[in-house]
Amino acid sequence: MRAGSTRYRRLSFAAVSSTNTLALEAARSGDPGDLWITGERQLEGRGRMGRKWVSEAGNLYASWLGIDVAPPAELAKLPFVVSLAIRNAVQRFVEPPASAQMKWPNDILIDGKKLVGILLESSRLPSGRQALILGCGINIAHKPSDAPYGVTSLQDEGYRSGPEPVFEVLAEEWHRQLLRFDGGAGFAHIRSDWLEHAVGLSRPCTVRLPDRTLEGIFETLDADGRLILRFADGTRRPISAGDVFFS
Ligand code: BTN
Repeated sequence: MRAGSTRYRRLSFAAVSSTNTLALEAARSGDPGDLWITGERQLEGRGRMGRKWVSEAGNLYASWLGIDVAPPAELAKLPFVVSLAIRNAVQRFVEPPASAQMKWPNDILIDGKKLVGILLESSRLPSGRQALILGCGINIAHKPSDAPYGVTSLQDEGYRSGPEPVFEVLAEEWHRQLLRFDGGAGFAHIRSDWLEHAVGLSRPCTVRLPDRTLEGIFETLDADGRLILRFADGTRRPISAGDVFFS
């Protein structure tokens, strides 16, 4: 374990089970939060929906632990703060004219190909406080070979260095966006930046919900971060969770 930068607390490891799991353990042991945990590789990296996240050395694996980051009613907006911060960070390492975009709710894509995996987890601690863990895996030197969707890496996009400079910019940008978010009061600014770099705005899309599939136009993001889907008859439906596909 090495001591971190003076700007934020950081624990960095050569190999970890999962940086998200370690962050959760730190929260349960009473860590005050605002802590970054990074691993050069993960032995049990976790993805969304219980999937495994293959984590060889050469990519970035980082988790941030926050305690009582926002009131419970504002927590659903955090995925947008997270994706905007990560999008802005990776854009600094991508050769123009390539542009990093966000796909609702919080995927980061370049030319339709996934660059980053984000796993947000929260847990109510025995103290009654709320721990939030923001975990992200950024493809730098490697990308999965068996993904059922397009994938890319920063190296494919022209970047020629390692994970450390990317981590430094990411940590800075995350803290900047979290300050702007201001516990939810600044979400209007986040929303407007998010929309500027969103994939598929005003385009037809298919939304897959657990019990049905809907077709419509991705009209906008509402003030609570819900996707507003406009149907052919002009009616609208706010979507809080689901998978979105653009043709
Ligand atoms: C996804 O399924 O797209 C989310 C993947 C999230 C992977 C990151 S890597 C750092 C952190 N630690 C984990 O075990 N998972 C997240």
